[in-house]
Amino acid sequence: MDSRSLIAVSDLDRGRLGALFDEAEAFLAPDAATAHRGWLAGRAVALLFYEPSTRTRLSFQLAACRLGADVVSLDENLSSGVKGETLGDTLATLAAMDVHFFVVRHRDNGIMAELAANLPSGCALVSAGEGSLEHPTQGLLDAFTIRRHRPRLAGLRVAIVGDIAHSRVARSSAQALALLGVEDIRLVGPRQFLPRPGELPGELTSRLEQGLTGADVVIALRVQRERLEDGEGFDPVHYRQAYGLSVERLEEWARPDCLLLHPGPVNWGTELAPEFASWPRSLIREQVRNGVAVRMAVLARLEEVLRGRP
Ligand code: CP
Repeated sequence: MDSRSLIAVSDLDRGRLGALFDEAEAFLAPDAATAHRGWLAGRAVALLFYEPSTRTRLSFQLAACRLGADVVSLDENLSSGVKGETLGDTLATLAAMDVHFFVVRHRDNGIMAELAANLPSGCALVSAGEGSLEHPTQGLLDAFTIRRHRPRLAGLRVAIVGDIAHSRVARSSAQALALLGVEDIRLVGPRQFLPRPGELPGELTSRLEQGLTGADVVIALRVQRERLEDGEGFDPVHYRQAYGLSVERLEEWARPDCLLLHPGPVNWGTELAPEFASWPRSLIREQVRNGVAVRMAVLARLEEVLRGRP
């Protein structure tokens, strides 16, 4: 991440990713909520979310606050976008108010590259989720969470289960894990929810048992109903029977010490049985906690770029 934007995992190389994770570790320290307030003092961060979000939006807000930045956010329905202002114009308008960081979530594939190419000078851009393309900070925090529990990443078998085709999280998580050296990634889901062969790192399968067998880590995904055209044959009852994860299925097929992740929000009873809410090897809440630290590290790195530090 030597440029002023993070819109895809491929903006990072392995060394830079490792450095970001080391930084994120420091931001997990007990005093992190108050100890780093000088880092972004005098800076302003704008949260521009054109799709719903709970954890990404608020964790970026907390990350920016904990680094000492001012934070503003835009309500799409009350913004001048309703009157026809383009998002590019919105960024230029905010830059004129000395906003330096833009955290953007948007439904349109391709918009981040357009914004990055026309970014006002002295400003930085972070994608907080772009259509079905990428959600880079979610991919980073998933990989970071796995690395904290299983530092020897190269030998891991990771199964990503669910609606891969419409999932920006699956795209970013698979790429982040591959960048860190994970060689055995399995992409598991019904045929209509699988990506095209070769589109993502990993082996495709529609057989849940095959995908879960011997897995060290399972990342469960929500079906992205908002991105399905005419439902694409999705039936929640049938889906739960065929691809829903239960403790029994994990204990039967995956490794005995298998870890469970989910980027959230979870549709309990569809992709995950409710019993996972209190399962000891579920890292779902830890992912959320780590998300603040990883986003602090991303904002801190972009600040270095803005200051001209390589
Ligand atoms: N994982 C994730 O992106 O969650 P939110 O939609 O709540 O931000």
